[in-house]
Amino acid sequence: MISLEHVSKRYGDIVAVDDVSLTIPSGQVYGIVGQSGAGKSTLARLVNLIERPDSGRVVVDDVELTALNDTDLRAARRRIGMVFQRFNLLNSRTVRGNVELALEIDGTPRARRQARAQDMLDLVGLGHRGDAGIHELSGGQQQRVGIARALAANPTVLLSDEATSALDPETTASILDLYRRINAELGLTVLLITHEMDVVKSICHSAALVEHGRVVESGRLTDVIRTPGSRLTSQLFPLGPIPQSADPTATVIDITFAGGTADRPVIARVARDHAVDVSLLGALVEQIGGTQAGRTRLEVPAPAAAAVIADLRGQGLLVEVLQGEDAR
Ligand SMILES: Nc1ncnc2c1ncn2[C@@H]1O[C@H](COP(=O)(O)OP(=O)(O)O)[C@@H](O)[C@H]1O
Ligand SMILES: [Mg+2]
Repeated sequence: MISLEHVSKRYGDIVAVDDVSLTIPSGQVYGIVGQSGAGKSTLARLVNLIERPDSGRVVVDDVELTALNDTDLRAARRRIGMVFQRFNLLNSRTVRGNVELALEIDGTPRARRQARAQDMLDLVGLGHRGDAGIHELSGGQQQRVGIARALAANPTVLLSDEATSALDPETTASILDLYRRINAELGLTVLLITHEMDVVKSICHSAALVEHGRVVESGRLTDVIRTPGSRLTSQLFPLGPIPQSADPTATVIDITFAGGTADRPVIARVARDHAVDVSLLGALVEQIGGTQAGRTRLEVPAPAAAAVIADLRGQGLLVEVLQGEDAR
């Protein structure tokens, strides 16, 4: 488990991380998402204490990193493997040499080092490329070397900062697949820092949304999509603004379905039972947190809106009013 308690970090006048408290459970793929400049990378550097916070505590697997001296911190940091967007590999070394690097630094004997590097390269699908130079590899392969290197010291947490942001969509998908496997098969906690909601959608169990250095929302995605007013959910279902053509007097609602509820029969039934014409303004179905979830945007004529909303809510559906009398 990673636990941040009231952690802050400033750079001069800029408060990059502002009183963040966050618990990241072990064994999850956990996304830290937010726009560029939100403070995600600073948060990542505070988790492994590459950077010390100005205040607050960082606890990883029951060890308070913020209380350690530099020597103990170096040892504790081995629990956290780090993968970077720009790979940060050494061109002067072979693929295997890069993976062995972390083990050389901590004095692991040569034979053990080589065996471990080979295992890690096998794991990431590059077992046959150990003798290659870094420049001979594609971006996706280089990222796999970065992951193998991060795993070599046998960490419990893999921390990835925008590791797929420089990759094309297909390569991104294959790297995310690798993270999924590392989490499922090795049981590692994977902390994914990203500005891409699609990354969160496709592999994260939980996520935290960061804005202006603050965590404004966090939780299991299956819970988040049941939470009224969730900003994370709005970003998971990018339905956009209400179309101009919509009747300005009508009520516009978003209905969020979780866990594979079929939405069409519900909408058809409501239209029939209340004898109203509802118009479909948008709909998206996504795989989120391992389950199917959907969001449907409907325009409902004002006189029937209150009864329709009550009916849908009575069935346990999350209904949010975007426009109309009941909007709040
Ligand atoms: N080493 C640094 N020195 C000065 N300002 C920094 C430094 N690192 C980050 N910042 C500032 O802190 C804020 C958050 O940056 P960062 O954590 O990199 O955000 P993100 O990763 O979400 O894009 C930004 O305003 C950025 O300019
Ligand atoms: Mg960043």
